[in-house]
Amino acid sequence: MNHELPFESYLISVARPIKITAQKEREQIIREQYYNLFKIPSPKVMIDMLTDSGTGAISNEQLAGIIVGDESYAGSVSFEKMKRAINDITGFNFIIPTHQGRGAENVLHSAIVKDGDVVPGNTHFDTTKAHIEFRRATAVDCTIDESKETSNEHPFRGNLDLKKLEAVFLKTPKEKIPFTLITITCNSGGGQPVSLSNILAVKKLCKKYNIRLFFDMARFAENAYFIKTREKEYQSWPILDICREMFKDADGATMSAKKDAIVAMGGFVALKDEELYQKCATYSILFEGYLTYGGMTGGTMEALAIGLYETTDFHYLQSRITQVHKLGRLIKECGIPLIEPVGGHAVYVDAGKMLPHIPHAQYPAQVLAVALYVKGGIRGVEIGTVLADRDPFTHQERFQDHELLRLAVPRRTFTDNHMAYVASVLGEINKEKDKLKGLKIIWEPPILRHFTCRFAEVD
Ligand SMILES: Cc1ncc(COP(=O)(O)O)c(C=O)c1O
Repeated sequence: MNHELPFESYLISVARPIKITAQKEREQIIREQYYNLFKIPSPKVMIDMLTDSGTGAISNEQLAGIIVGDESYAGSVSFEKMKRAINDITGFNFIIPTHQGRGAENVLHSAIVKDGDVVPGNTHFDTTKAHIEFRRATAVDCTIDESKETSNEHPFRGNLDLKKLEAVFLKTPKEKIPFTLITITCNSGGGQPVSLSNILAVKKLCKKYNIRLFFDMARFAENAYFIKTREKEYQSWPILDICREMFKDADGATMSAKKDAIVAMGGFVALKDEELYQKCATYSILFEGYLTYGGMTGGTMEALAIGLYETTDFHYLQSRITQVHKLGRLIKECGIPLIEPVGGHAVYVDAGKMLPHIPHAQYPAQVLAVALYVKGGIRGVEIGTVLADRDPFTHQERFQDHELLRLAVPRRTFTDNHMAYVASVLGEINKEKDKLKGLKIIWEPPILRHFTCRFAEVD
């Protein structure tokens, strides 16, 4: 089957100009901001690939939804519309709106995760892991071993290893496992999908041991697209049916709607069980807002409901994933190593391999991120030793096996020309990569250093 669509499945009706900057100006800016890309004002970035979260382009229908949104504090019609859409796609009846994904995680975890608990899953996203550890519980990574290699053509590198999962079930008292979590797609593993057969097998195992099963469904539609195009049994299934099958019989989900619902802000918890809903509702009112808005405007809830359907349109998904993969292919053609196969929302360049002359202690992926900004005005993000931070007890650096530069692709935002430009700038850098110098950290905060730390060039 030919998966490539020769053009985007939408027209661009509102354009936002890019302010063109010169390399000299960018050299000065990056020096002034101590080589930290989080400090660069957005008008000084030409192609922003820092994240795919909340950065997609809304559609004309979503814009109309924002205008007609019901902003009532209680009983908003827009909440009802959003609830119907979530119920239709996931089958879950009880919906709690939240301001974003981590808000949803906070509500759910406050209700059911306790000190000493264990939450197995495929690689938990940072905020999920933080919410688990904040409650002195442990996130156990049960992803298949193939996910750890940078180049392994396994089509579903986000899959859970059933043996690892069963081992957790066998050695942990049942009451200490509040739930198993499947993150679709697996962001921390590079936006890698989970197959439907793996999801069904995990469901069966959870049922056998009577353990709840939840999804982190931030990129559920992209996951469904990979199932349709890579898993033979589901080739003829509509995307929406695949989604329904993924969620069927599970206990619930959290979602950052900033991804696959294509809204700038928003999220929710979706639950099967009313008793758990009542428990979560208390925390929702405490942290997020009343139960029919939870930190979102009525307009956002309208746009979210519409976005959930737009994102499950096969042709939209085809053009989105095709664009991400095209970027990967163009970068690879320049002889630059990356995580393969490319996932759903981003390309991860293996900066450690690309710049072997720069040791981990001089942050090769940060060096590459800075070079990409200086040469092309493009902003990516370091996923390596800087992000990994220091060990909280020993204060030693946690050197990573892979020093990666993530180039996230916002939804419906860039054309293929933008992507070709990104690849060509990387290609130019690759030709002169031996000239790149390492970086050292000259100031850092006690935690979450990557946002604010200051770097200087190593002589
Ligand atoms: C898989 C996954 N879960 C949860 C979150 C957290 O969502 P938010 O940024 O909306 O709080 C993210 C954000 O990137 C994510 O990718």
